[in-house]
This record gives sequence, structure tokens and C-alpha cells, in this order.
Amino acid sequence: MLSNKAILITGGTGSFGRAFIKYILEEYSDIERIVVFSRDEQKQFEMALEFSPKVYPIRYILGDVRDKAQLYRAMQDIDIVIHSSAMKHVGASEQNPMECVKTNILGSQNIIDVSLERGVKQVIALSTDKSVNPSNVYGASKLILEKLFISADAQKMEEDIKFSIVRYGNIFGSKGSVIPLL
Ligand SMILES: NC(=O)c1ccc[n+]([C@@H]2O[C@H](COP(=O)([O-])OP(=O)(O)OC[C@H]3O[C@@H](n4cnc5c(N)ncnc54)[C@H](OP(=O)(O)O)[C@@H]3O)[C@@H](O)[C@H]2O)c1
Repeated sequence: MLSNKAILITGGTGSFGRAFIKYILEEYSDIERIVVFSRDEQKQFEMALEFSPKVYPIRYILGDVRDKAQLYRAMQDIDIVIHSSAMKHVGASEQNPMECVKTNILGSQNIIDVSLERGVKQVIALSTDKSVNPSNVYGASKLILEKLFISADAQKMEEDIKFSIVRYGNIFGSKGSVIPLL
């Protein structure tokens, strides 16, 4: 499925992104290109020490999903987008709801819009079990993300593109996991 494909992963330096990229590089030696799209240069620098562009077909692009122009540049000749970036801390999202809206909702709509403009074939967003009957801003923002993706898939016209969502539970060992607290 990923053979000879160019993949862009928003939040590629995160817990999911790093694990997924490690898996791709181990399992798909014929992957065409992996593009990591995220904001923090230090995280990208550290990740490039493990997954160097000199060794692997990987590129690191700094950008924010809120910035549509930068997303457009990054999505050149991309087949598959995995949208894993998010503001995911429940407390921070309660205290800064508009920041969560900008990243998780408006940023996700940017992903949809630019994927359509760039002729991407498959777009998969990571959601959460907290989007079910949400009781907090983070869960509500992910519910809207799901609705945006479902609507984009239903409303697409002749475009050869598929929008889908996966729902995660709490991932052991990921950043910000509640499990160590428990
Ligand atoms: N981990 C879990 O237990 C869990 C459970 C359910 C669902 N999920 C979902 O799974 C996805 C991945 O989670 P994770 O644990 O891998 O998260 P993570 O470790 O916190 O990583 C988040 C990634 O997103 C990037 N990012 C954040 N805001 C961004 C923005 N505005 N623009 C571009 N990049 C941005 C971060 O890098 P920078 O800070 O450098 O930008 C980082 O690479 C998220 O959508 C999350 O909601 C996770």
C-alpha cells in the first residue's frame, strides 16, 4: 500500500509520527518519500539524528497546520497525508480553547483544502475516543475534525481522493499520556 508512495505526516516528530515512520522505513524499503511537517526545529533536529535525510528518503519541513501557504508548499507531489498533529493536552485546551480550535479544527480544514488542491489521493486523520460525547474542548475539537473529514469525503465530486479517520485510545508511552499519572 505504501510502496512507491510519497507520504506527508503532520506531527511527524510526535509519539505516533516517530513510531510510524520507524515502521515505514523498516517495512517499505521502496517508499518514495516521507515528509515530516511540524513546528519545532529542535524536535526535527533530534529526529534527523536518528532518521537522517542523507540515509533515508525523508525530508523535514517546518510549518504550522494553521499556515495554509506553507502546507501547500509542503504537499507538492504527495500521495498520502497522515494528519497526526494536534493540540492534545486536555487541560491546556480548556484554558486556551481558541488555540485548540485554531490547530485542531481550522488546521484540519486547511489539510482538507490543500489536499484537494494538491491532488492527494488519501488523507487519514488521527482522532480520539474523547470525541465520543465530548466533555471537554479537546474532545469537542476532535469531534469537529471528524465531521469535517466525513463531510469532505461525502462532498467530494469527481476527485480521486479518500478522507478517513482513525480513533485512538490512550497510547501507552506517548507524550502526555495519563497512564503514568494513574
Ligand atoms: N497519544 C495518545 O495517547 C493519543 C490518544 C488518542 C488520540 N491521539 C491523537 O493522535 C495524534 C498523535 O498524537 P501523539 O501522541 O503523537 O502527539 P504528540 O506526541 O504530542 O505529537 C504532536 C505532534 O504534532 C506537532 N504539532 C502540534 N501542533 C502543531 C501545529 N499547529 N502544526 C504542525 N504540527 C504541530 C508536534 O510538533 P511541534 O510541537 O514541533 O509542532 C508533534 O510533532 C494526535 O492527533 C492525538 O490527538 C493520541
